[in-house]
Amino acid sequence: MCDTLTILGLESSCDDTAAAIVRVRPGAPAQILAQTVMGQGQLHAAFGGVVPEIAARAHAEKLDLCVAEVLRASGLTLRDMDAVAVTAGPGLIGGVMSGVMCAKGLAAGAGLPLIGVNHLAGHALTPRLTDGAPYPYLMLLVSGGHCQFLRVDGARQFTRLGGTIDDAPGEAFDKTARLLGLTQPGGPAVEAEAVSGDAARYAFPRPLLDRPGCDMSFSGLKTALLRTRDAVIAKKDGLTRQDRADMCAGFQAAVRDVLAEKTRRALAAHSDLRLLAVAGGVAANQTIRAALMQVAIEAGAEFLAPPLALCTDNAAMIAYAGAELFALGQRDDMTLAARPRWPLDMGSPAMLGSGRKGAKA
Ligand code: KG4
Ligand code: ZN
Repeated sequence: MCDTLTILGLESSCDDTAAAIVRVRPGAPAQILAQTVMGQGQLHAAFGGVVPEIAARAHAEKLDLCVAEVLRASGLTLRDMDAVAVTAGPGLIGGVMSGVMCAKGLAAGAGLPLIGVNHLAGHALTPRLTDGAPYPYLMLLVSGGHCQFLRVDGARQFTRLGGTIDDAPGEAFDKTARLLGLTQPGGPAVEAEAVSGDAARYAFPRPLLDRPGCDMSFSGLKTALLRTRDAVIAKKDGLTRQDRADMCAGFQAAVRDVLAEKTRRALAAHSDLRLLAVAGGVAANQTIRAALMQVAIEAGAEFLAPPLALCTDNAAMIAYAGAELFALGQRDDMTLAARPRWPLDMGSPAMLGSGRKGAKA
């Protein structure tokens, strides 16, 4: 990148309303000057998933506040920005539209260039924002809405090496928690229970390990957990605390094994990739993280897990991706459209299905 760029980023593709200001200088680490994320967990809690209409309305209400907050915190004004970057997809269409409309208003009002960013590109470029990771690298994006391996060669050069053909692992963790009466979000709750569990007591499947390639499947694992739970309840008229811990440990071990083996394959098939980076809420899981790190070490690659606040949905990643795209010459205008589906790798077939947390790409 040739000049210093200061970019305002907006994110509203699922259930987090976020704004951030990021500065990128040639030869220096990128700086997050200010960022804020307003989650909508409480609004959706009673529904067991994100309600798109509620999410869109909340984004429309909160985006302005988020922008005002990051301008205040950074001591900057819109005039100090070089561009406004916004998530233009993939995601829940109402939320993405709220963000795109807000960004268009800001860009038009302040006379700034507008840059539409793919949400997945934001995640995939995060290792460059946090650690200045050089291209190329392997990204495993693993959250409540996404699960895919990306070969990242540039800010517009992504190759999807594989991904889930049904649910994302975070969805499976959340469902497991619901089935076992644990709190939401399910990942941390299942992980905490699993600490005192015996992963070998119940046999859970490792879906698609028998098939070549890096595609994954997690919906069968959910069903297996349901069956196991019902069988134990039918036999003993209830679950003991130990039964529950053992199921959590077994489930977590199955997810870990699938992610680790598919990562091993991805690295083996792309021996020029010397860095494995992870992003997404599931990457917070210590058991899974340790297994992925081990796979990287065995393959002679580095392992990078950005701080959790930048692994999950945020606007700093959108502002940073916007800076890279700006430097490549991208400029959008008032015709920028919100896209519910937007695969990063246009050469790969689109993933099927629409997850609990929105459309998959
Ligand atoms: O990236 P994220 O915050 O949001 C999106 O999905 O976009 O990921 C949230 C997902 C939830 O499904 C949550 O249960 C899961 O990440 N998660 C975890 C852990 N922490 C969060 N899954 C497993 N172990 C964890 N410690
Ligand atoms: Zn995301």
